[in-house]
Parts: sequence; structure tokens; C-alpha cells
Amino acid sequence: MYILGVSCFYHDAAAALLRDGVLVAAAEEERFSRLKHDYGFPRHAIRFCLKQAGIEPSAVDYVVFFEKPFRKFDRLLMTVLQTYPQSSKVFRESMITWMVDKLWVETTLQAELGLPKNRILFSEHHLSHAASAFLCSPFEEAAILTVDGVGEWVTATYGIGRGNEMRLQKQIEFPHSLGLLYSAFTAFLGFEVNEGEYKVMGMAAYGQPKYLDRVWKLVHRNQDGSFALNMDFFSFHRSTKNTYNQRFLELFGVPRPPKLPFFTKASDFPTPCGLTDDDDSQLSQRNQYYADVAASIQRVTEELLLDMANQVHRETGLSRLCIAGGVALNSLANRRILLETPFEELYVQPAAGDGGGALGAALWAHNMLLGEPRTFQMNHAYWGRSNSEAEIAEFLQRNNISHRKFNNADQLVDTVVRDLVEGKVVGWSQGRFEWGPRALGNRSILADPRDPKMKDIVNTKIKFREPYRPFAPSVLAPCAGKYFELTDATRHHPARYMLYVVPVKHDFQGTIPAVTHVDGTARLQTVFQEQNPLYYQLIEGFAQQTGVPILLNTSFNLKGEPIVNTPADAFSSFVRSEMDTLVLENFVVERNMVPTNA
Ligand SMILES: [Fe+2]
Repeated sequence: MYILGVSCFYHDAAAALLRDGVLVAAAEEERFSRLKHDYGFPRHAIRFCLKQAGIEPSAVDYVVFFEKPFRKFDRLLMTVLQTYPQSSKVFRESMITWMVDKLWVETTLQAELGLPKNRILFSEHHLSHAASAFLCSPFEEAAILTVDGVGEWVTATYGIGRGNEMRLQKQIEFPHSLGLLYSAFTAFLGFEVNEGEYKVMGMAAYGQPKYLDRVWKLVHRNQDGSFALNMDFFSFHRSTKNTYNQRFLELFGVPRPPKLPFFTKASDFPTPCGLTDDDDSQLSQRNQYYADVAASIQRVTEELLLDMANQVHRETGLSRLCIAGGVALNSLANRRILLETPFEELYVQPAAGDGGGALGAALWAHNMLLGEPRTFQMNHAYWGRSNSEAEIAEFLQRNNISHRKFNNADQLVDTVVRDLVEGKVVGWSQGRFEWGPRALGNRSILADPRDPKMKDIVNTKIKFREPYRPFAPSVLAPCAGKYFELTDATRHHPARYMLYVVPVKHDFQGTIPAVTHVDGTARLQTVFQEQNPLYYQLIEGFAQQTGVPILLNTSFNLKGEPIVNTPADAFSSFVRSEMDTLVLENFVVERNMVPTNA
């Protein structure tokens, strides 16, 4: 039986295909359309999933959409009616997009796939999130917590999963939303909502939570683990553009302009040219304020999540917790939940945001609706498309690109290790691309983590991104406990997907400065031989040469672009940056092989 899950028309569009309950393929649309966070109908992702399974659309037994469009429309309508006339503009704008595609999801799915109506099913937004975590977790029984911006009406739920059943017991409803609270600060700090949340987390490390009292004016925590926003400070319920209002600004001052160079005394970022020392110190002080605000909202978010997780534990008494929804990507908070609640093990799957809803919707239909037993555990993220040798060879030949081809993995690894040890930056594309927002060694830019200058090199010459954002270490799983505060890596699934921030052990912070954040932490990825043997071999090879079983790993994309998919995407990123080596499966292109006008 084939079940296709689809999520779109809100945040990240994605498709996921199950064969008899086991995942065959899953991908976000942005990788194919090349539009970052593409939320349109995931035509390409669906086509890819079907091709990976070798089937035609007519072979699909059920298509499952990840939420209920009419219920969501109901929320929009009610919110608008309650806040009329301030909301009349948002109503007009939203109405157009709803009338054009969102309400007619069923018709769209029918038309695109040629399937009859009775094979199209609708899950619910938070049920899809819950299913995307629990139903593919290794746990037979676990508590479940879902937290995001908003689904149809709901912004957070919790409940219990047992076998192939899930029961969500309690929920928090719009407009009270932890995701939207965090997003308001994302916007205030000059970042794009739904994109810049990681940057807030990165910036928080440069600040102190000095403004907790102000942030707590915006949100009230309840005894039962829930919370309520003070809507006097927000405008997301009546505006499509602004998430906060004038009263918020009276509390927090002038928003950070998006292009303002960010550096503080601690960030060690080179002085922007043209600034005098005085300007420089003024700017540094101003940035310090924003970093302190970032640290404050991060801390409050963590506290609210801890409240929720503790309450879930009190009510369920279970020792394992599955988390999903966009907020589950907050790797600092995940770590605190593990350390500061009675839960002993956490599970988060790599596409914890709305893209993951496609997977959850399909699992929900298979396990809960059809009552089939669970037969699938997700323990790696490599569910995307791969590039065949023939495709790469054809691309290189057609474009006249000089290259070397290796016929065995040992020689390839030796060459790449030599480059890394020499301080070169390597674009590494292998196997199937990752599911979710993180690159985990199949579409990664790799470098030597021991070189203190490497962070600046990769930030400014290769990724063109903000200099304060940390880079992640990929570490061989058996060695994780030596370098990081993480014992028994096999039990910590979120670390496989870079979803834990942990302290780097004090003695090793100087060994791997390029992946140690300013506060002494790292967002590590544990690499397991069974799940990614080639990447494991590469890190092992690097360890043999250097004694350090760790590589700097950042996603293979340039700033503002989706992670690369095809050889053409990878080569384009390579030539537009100052990467030294490009590895496409067993083909290697060195910088000096490429003409300067390529
Ligand atoms: Fe969501």
C-alpha cells in the first residue's frame, strides 16, 4: 500500500511517501524549485517521491493532506471578525490567497494526481506534527509535545502515544502561541520570520538575559504549564506584515535594521570599513542591547517549554518524550528539556517544522486511521534525491569541467582528507539529500575545525552569511562523549540531526575553536557508521591524520538559497564562492581546474 503525505500553502511545502508503512522518500519542495521555504504545491517533491518508489500516481492508495483547510479558514474568519475594522486589510489580502488555492486543496490534489476524491484524506496540523515524531520514534510508548506558530487553531498540544495510537489530551489555541512570540522577536531583531529564528539563537549567545522582566510582560505563565500572550503588544492577529505593535516598541525600543552589521566586544568581528572607533564602539553597544534581547526571549522560550514538558511529565508519568513543531528545532531548549525535566530520552525527527507534517500525515493515516502496526523508525535523514554517476559525468562533460574520477572510496577519502588538513574548504555532495533544514554530511560544506580562522573564512568567503552564526561539528558517535557533554550518543536521537546544543568539554574548546560557539557550546551532529558509512570514513580518515574525529559541517548552499540538489546547483555554489574543492559522489573538481570566468 502506498500513502503519500503532502504539506503546503503555509510554510515549507513537502511530500513523503510510505510503502506499507515504511518511508521510501521525503523531500521539501524548495530543493527542486530553488525557492527558499517554497510553500506552493509540492509538485516536484511529489514527482520525486513517486519516481523513487518507481510508481505512477495511480498506484497511490491514499493522499493525505497535513491539515484541515476549512478549519484554518474558520480561524482566519473568526479572528478577523473579532478584530474588525483594524483587520479589514489582512482580511482582503488573505481572502485572495485562500480563494485562489488554499480552500481548494482537494481539487488541486485530484487534478495533479488524477485520483478520485475518496482517496484524499485530511489530517489535522498538530496531529500531523505529533505523528511525525512519535510514530517513527523508537519508542513503543512516549509522551508527545507539539509546539509551533499556529496550525488550524491550535498552537501547542500534548498527549500520549502507545503502539499505533496517539491521544492528544490538551491544547493551547491561537493567538496564544510560543512560536509567534519568538517570531515577533525574530522580526524585531531584523531577521525574516520563519527563516531567522536560528539567527536569534546564535545571537543570544553574545548576550545576557537582562530583559526578562520586559519579556515577561508579554506572556503570562500558568500553573498548569500553559501560558497566555498579552495581546496588547502584538499585531499578528490583525496584520499580515507586522507581528508586534507600538506598545511592543515602547517596551523594546527601535527594531534592529536588517542590514546593521552585527558585532559585539565578544564577537571579535572585524571593524566594518568606513567606521571610526567611536562609531564602532557605539555600534557595538547597540548590538549588545540586541544580543541581550535575543538572550532574553531565548531564555523565556526555554522556561515556557520547560513548564510544558514538566507538566506533560506530571500528567503522563512517562520517561520518554517526542517533540515536534517548529519550536522543536530550538536546539538550546531541547537540551534543557533533557537536563532539567524528568524525561530521560527525547525524540525529534529532522523535519520537525511544517515540512515534517507531510510525513506525519502519511503515518497518521497508515497507523491510526487504517490501524496498521508501526513498522518504521527514522534513525537517519537521508530520504531525498541522489545524483547518479551518469548524471554527474554528463554534467561535467557537457560543461567542459576538468575533474578527477575515483574508483574507490579509500582513494577519494584520502584525497579529501589531505585537502581538509591543508586548510581547504570542501563542498561535499554524496548520496540522498537530507530531510529537514540541516545538512548532515550528504550536502555539506566541510572544513578543519581546529583552525581558529576557519569560522571567518567559511562565513565571509564562502557562505556570505552573518559572522556571528556558529558552525556545527560532525563527530564520530563513539567519540562524542570525549569532546562534548553528551554521554551515550546512541540514546540521543536529536543529536543525530543537530538538534541539541551541548557544552564542548573545557579541555577541548581550544582544540576545535571553529565549531565552539562564543559561550563554549556546539550544536553537534553525531555520525553513525551504519547510517552514513562514507561520511564516517571521511571523519575517521581526518582523525587518523590529525587525532581529531570532528569536522566543521555547514549546509551546502550560499546565503539565502536552498541547500543544493543537482550537480548544477552544487557547481554553481562552488564557482560563486571561494570553496577550494567540489566533491560530487566520486568526482572531484579542484578550484584550480576551473577557469576564472566559469
Ligand atoms: Fe506547524
